[in-house]
Amino acid sequence: MFKAAIIGAGAISSLHLQALAEMNEIEAVAIADIDEERARKASAQHPVRAYADYRRMVEIERPDIVVITLPHHLHKECAIWCARSGCHILLEKPMAIDVEACDEIIKTVGESRIKLMVGHTQHYFAENRIAKEIIQSGRLGKLVMINDVRHVDYYSPNRPAWFFESAKSGGGIAMNLGSHSIDKIQWLTDSRIVQVKASVSHYGAKGDIEGSVTAWVQTDRGVPCTISQSGYGGVNRDETEFVFTEGMLKLSTGAGLWIGQSGEYRSVEASQEAPPFVLQYRDLLSSIRTDVNPECSGEYSRSVVAAVQAIYASHRSGQEVVVLHQR
Ligand SMILES: NC(=O)c1ccc[n+]([C@@H]2O[C@H](COP(=O)([O-])OP(=O)(O)OC[C@H]3O[C@@H](n4cnc5c(N)ncnc54)[C@H](O)[C@@H]3O)[C@@H](O)[C@H]2O)c1
Repeated sequence: MFKAAIIGAGAISSLHLQALAEMNEIEAVAIADIDEERARKASAQHPVRAYADYRRMVEIERPDIVVITLPHHLHKECAIWCARSGCHILLEKPMAIDVEACDEIIKTVGESRIKLMVGHTQHYFAENRIAKEIIQSGRLGKLVMINDVRHVDYYSPNRPAWFFESAKSGGGIAMNLGSHSIDKIQWLTDSRIVQVKASVSHYGAKGDIEGSVTAWVQTDRGVPCTISQSGYGGVNRDETEFVFTEGMLKLSTGAGLWIGQSGEYRSVEASQEAPPFVLQYRDLLSSIRTDVNPECSGEYSRSVVAAVQAIYASHRSGQEVVVLHQR
């Protein structure tokens, strides 16, 4: 049985605790939050011990796995400390606030005998997995373009304040939700985004982050894509459209998948064999047991952060930006 400890008792930690409660091979033993009241609250709902200091928790509990669910600017320092302490790591997305921080994490992980997986949850939704199979099968012909649209009320009062401070979050909607879109495009088409031309806006009522992004990106397989996201409210939308020479695919992660041919869309059956977070932990355990890096390795997850940074660089310069990756 693997022992897991959670670092950060905020919103997403409850999904991790729920997933861990469903698993036989891994058990959550402790949770730490600088706001100890939050850790205690989680401890009242799940059989985990509460700590205020994650270093003390790791030293006392000696977990096999830590799950880092901290604000983005703390990912680097915490992941490096945990890797040096010999814990396998599930690090929430985005990997860090810039590629330099990703590189430091990758270097430390390489020097440690641990596995690092970044929580790119898109890989564990049934619709997304089936979409990937269909894309790979070639049954809809050649992939011509991808259009990804995501609209949410990013400025909702429920969102913690650090998300609106770029020094802590690394950016706004493009960093936080754009990283899901970039991951989706790259993973579903087994490619990397290599060219970016983008524009962002800063009309939000709080903070110094961008509230929208409009980007044209191209993959190293030559597929042009658009990413369009608004956090200013209105009507929520989460849709990725894949246009092929012989049909279309419409993907709404967590909601459905449709094949479009002959003038209409028909739904594709997609049954979720287990909750996405459970599948994510299964993948991590498989990586630890086989000593093979997971799909969402540090190197892969760095490529997502590199593409987000290229969006910001393109907005600042007004020019197209080439993204350099380490494969
Ligand atoms: N995979 C997904 O779909 C998904 C969804 C939501 C959030 N996330 C990611 O999860 C991470 C956390 O997001 P969240 O929404 O839970 O944020 P949150 O603000 O709700 O939680 C972060 C917690 O970390 C705690 N914290 C801050 N500094 C700390 C420290 N030094 N030591 C211990 N605890 C500390 C805060 O008190 C807070 O409780 C982010 O990386 C976010 O992008 C991923």
